Amino acid sequence: MVKTTQLQIDVVVEHTCLLGEGPVWDAKRKVICWIDILKGEIHEYLPEQKTLKTIQVNQMIGSIVVCTNGNFLAALQNGFGFIDRTSGEVRMISDPEDHLPNNRFNEGKCDPEGRFWAGTMSLSEKDPAGSVYVMEKDFSVKKRIEGVTISNGMAWSRDHQTSYYIDTPTLEVAAYDYDKSTGHINNKKVIIKIPKEDGYPDGMTIDNEGMLWIAHWDGWQVTQWNPDTKEKLHRIQLPVAKVTSCTFGGETLEDLYITSAKKGLTEEELQKQPLAGSLFVVRDCGFKGMPAFEFET
Ligand code: BGC
Ligand code: CA
Repeated sequence: MVKTTQLQIDVVVEHTCLLGEGPVWDAKRKVICWIDILKGEIHEYLPEQKTLKTIQVNQMIGSIVVCTNGNFLAALQNGFGFIDRTSGEVRMISDPEDHLPNNRFNEGKCDPEGRFWAGTMSLSEKDPAGSVYVMEKDFSVKKRIEGVTISNGMAWSRDHQTSYYIDTPTLEVAAYDYDKSTGHINNKKVIIKIPKEDGYPDGMTIDNEGMLWIAHWDGWQVTQWNPDTKEKLHRIQLPVAKVTSCTFGGETLEDLYITSAKKGLTEEELQKQPLAGSLFVVRDCGFKGMPAFEFET
């Protein structure tokens, strides 16, 4: 039985993104970071001080991870680059898709070994023109998945043997055997099928019991699944349709942060969901996350 949980959902800060995405909890600095892909902005909010800081990167940004030196590594419109957290300066490294101007990056994460994985999608959101790349610690970049339409959620199992992945329009969550030492993935299996009426699977995170948490684009919800039994366990309803991603944060990783979008909504839809684009938090949600992996610098 799926439990629909009526938890208290708060807006973190009065700010709405066009396309809010990629939430990451920076445990060392106790900061929740997220991005606005289309506006090319990185937001950092300190819950203790209640302050919001925004970095403008002047190009679309698909995902960020925190580096061990505190700066960000990002997958930007023009490829991979470091972003100085204090000055906002962008230092580009390389672009695996400089021949594909109609693609952009969307969602990425570090794996348990600290490699940066990031996927792409065509701006039309229709052609299977995207891929998933991995940037190794020595900055070399390899392609790991091809023929992706909207590259989205990524997570790794607690035992570091499996990597989970979502290409949104497939409505599926796939599991691959993951070799931590080489960063290779293979033996793809479809483990979860999202019913169409629940929207499209988007961003994803994993909790400390190995359960997957999936954001539903056009689905007004986040759901929790057991990847082994393929059972849906929980549903958290949200006051917005376009739920893009989620991650655990807070001192004890028990607050669930959820990003959302307002892009593409009509005036009428916006009136019905005035909080679209907000960053939400379910404090003390009753579940606990796992710390985000960082890129070693
Ligand atoms: C992308 C959006 C896309 C959506 C569809 C998001 O992660 O950033 O551009 O429309 O996924 O699920
Ligand atoms: Ca997403």
